[in-house]
Amino acid sequence: MASVRKVVFPVAGLGTRMLPATKVLPKEMLPVVDKPVVQYALEEAAESGAETFIFVTGRGKVLVEDHFDRAFELFQMLEEKGKRGQREALERALPPPGRIVYTRQQAPLGLGHAVWCARHLVGDDPFFGVILVDDLIHAPVPCLRQLVDAHQATGANVVAVMEVPPEDTAKYGIIRPGAAEGDRVAVRGFVEKPRPEEAPSRLAVVGRYVLSRRIFPILERLDVGAGGEIQLTDAMSKLLEEEPFHGLRFTGRRFDCGDRLGYLEAIVAYAMEREDLAARFHAVLRRYV
Ligand code: UTP
Repeated sequence: MASVRKVVFPVAGLGTRMLPATKVLPKEMLPVVDKPVVQYALEEAAESGAETFIFVTGRGKVLVEDHFDRAFELFQMLEEKGKRGQREALERALPPPGRIVYTRQQAPLGLGHAVWCARHLVGDDPFFGVILVDDLIHAPVPCLRQLVDAHQATGANVVAVMEVPPEDTAKYGIIRPGAAEGDRVAVRGFVEKPRPEEAPSRLAVVGRYVLSRRIFPILERLDVGAGGEIQLTDAMSKLLEEEPFHGLRFTGRRFDCGDRLGYLEAIVAYAMEREDLAARFHAVLRRYV
């Protein structure tokens, strides 16, 4: 089974939950410790074997493009100031030339529409990855890599799933589970944001997918769904009538950086992992808790 060469990053959302921070700044540029969340996402894709990184941007998102550019004056200044190590680290973080491509979602018509905007860039590849950048996932093996492995083992579409508390089902797409094999669960259906009493399970879909390119003609025909948006979940439900899906209970912790509390927790978790910060940060936290 071929590996997944292309990954789509839909970054055209408005980020209203993080206003006023996101009035001008794209939410993908919010830093967790000292790295914007979008860079964690790109690194995860690269470590998962992706070769082409497809960004679906929108109005006000040019900083995301700038971030992956060579900052010529900065690089030269770091060199002159004897900070070669820092310059080299910035250089290493850049994707190879021509491997990052951008298209624009001209209006925020929903996640499904954003993914559809990447159809010509995904081209003939039978399967592609999707990473929702604000879902930051801290994992021993990059989360998308875990999905790609599950895809290679099954040949199927794969979505990342995690167990959520019953009262939270209405915030997520929830799967109707079928047979389980290890960490994989066959998907029998997707239910968008069910109330707890209607939820077919507590397994919520979070922002990592390996999808067949057959999702594109489905998205093309799709009517506007919940919230006046074209929903990826609706398209996955239709694709499920033609092709199998698995939910993967990935190993790792997910932080919703598009939400205040999730974002704050991500900063604490990532700072406590950093050798240069953990002890001092711990002392700082003790002053408050
Ligand atoms: P969210 O549900 O987080 O919506 O989108 P949002 O608009 O970005 O943020 P809030 O809810 O207003 O705070 C889920 C993912 O889909 C992308 C977002 O960028 C995010 O990664 N998205 C959403 C698009 O690319 N285009 C859209 O039209 C909607």
